[in-house]
Amino acid sequence: MKLPHIGMGTFGSDQFTPEQVSNAVYGAIKCGYRLFDCAAVYGNEDKIGQVFKRAFDDGLVKREDLIITSKVWNDMHGSGDVLISCAKSLKDLQLDYIDLYFVHWPFPNYHAPGCDGDSRNPDSRPFCPEEFMQVWRQMERLQDAGLVKNIGMSNMTVKKLESVLPHCRIRPVALEMELHPAFQQPELFNYCKKEGITPIGFCPIGSPTRPERDKTPEDISATQMPEIVEIAKARGVHPAIICLKWAVTRGQIPIPFSVYENEYESNLQLTTDPLTDDEMAIIAAADKNCRLIKGQVFLWEGADSWKDIWDEA
Ligand SMILES: NC(=O)c1ccc[n+]([C@@H]2O[C@H](COP(=O)([O-])OP(=O)(O)OC[C@H]3O[C@@H](n4cnc5c(N)ncnc54)[C@H](OP(=O)(O)O)[C@@H]3O)[C@@H](O)[C@H]2O)c1
Repeated sequence: MKLPHIGMGTFGSDQFTPEQVSNAVYGAIKCGYRLFDCAAVYGNEDKIGQVFKRAFDDGLVKREDLIITSKVWNDMHGSGDVLISCAKSLKDLQLDYIDLYFVHWPFPNYHAPGCDGDSRNPDSRPFCPEEFMQVWRQMERLQDAGLVKNIGMSNMTVKKLESVLPHCRIRPVALEMELHPAFQQPELFNYCKKEGITPIGFCPIGSPTRPERDKTPEDISATQMPEIVEIAKARGVHPAIICLKWAVTRGQIPIPFSVYENEYESNLQLTTDPLTDDEMAIIAAADKNCRLIKGQVFLWEGADSWKDIWDEA
């Protein structure tokens, strides 16, 4: 599977309607995007599926030229459920196959759509490698059956990857992980590169429109970091473009979201030429280790803080 240097996210963050997102997907196909990051839990795959069909029918693009991802949500980890979830995404997206199918989170903990940051599910439990492998076995069978071309993981840590990779019959080709200049995750990023797993960076602009439940007063905005602002000024572009250039130059695939044509068009077109070594060194030194998607709504009883989710406690 050949991945483009950048893709488009499709999570409306409880703020943008499925129609707004799917219209943006159509516009993005027209302007040249070839990778779309979808997920069952984003609640818009049916609308996006209509747009894919329209794009194929209009001859705008061929199916084989698009890379379409989707993800199994946390409430579909049970025996047989992964297949059901994949079948639903295939039907909604109006596809015969998904190019890259992810396990969205590595545990069966889920929250109700639109919940607030304090909400907890009493059935939540910590990551368990054996439980995860039961999900992964189902993912492998989806690939065997040709329903998905490749499989991937998301929201993992080095510790979690080390506990499951030796048991994978089919290894993940990609890991979706939070990556932006304020949260560079060098250890996990380097581990993926060493293991031949492609890092796909979510929230690449620092997710200014993320849901309220994912915002805390300590959060640092990547586009307001002085180093990013200064490089953006010198190059005469928006700081968002520098965040994306940083991602592409570093060797991860950013999947920025936007429903605005001027934004998604510039995100694709202004990010092909790399940053210089000096600019990359300045940004590397500016890392704030500031995770935005902390996942606190997935915490289980007895956990101390969201850091437990990321093996940092
Ligand atoms: N695997 C996972 O668990 C996971 C988790 C989170 C996200 N994701 C994926 O990653 C994708 C991207 O993450 P995200 O949507 O949270 O964050 P993001 O891409 O970092 O931020 C999106 C926001 O950035 C702003 N923006 C985009 N392009 C811009 C530009 N050129 N200039 C100025 N502002 C710009 C827009 O806000 P304004 O409206 O303010 O302009 C947009 O709503 C998601 O859509 C989803 O597909 C995956």
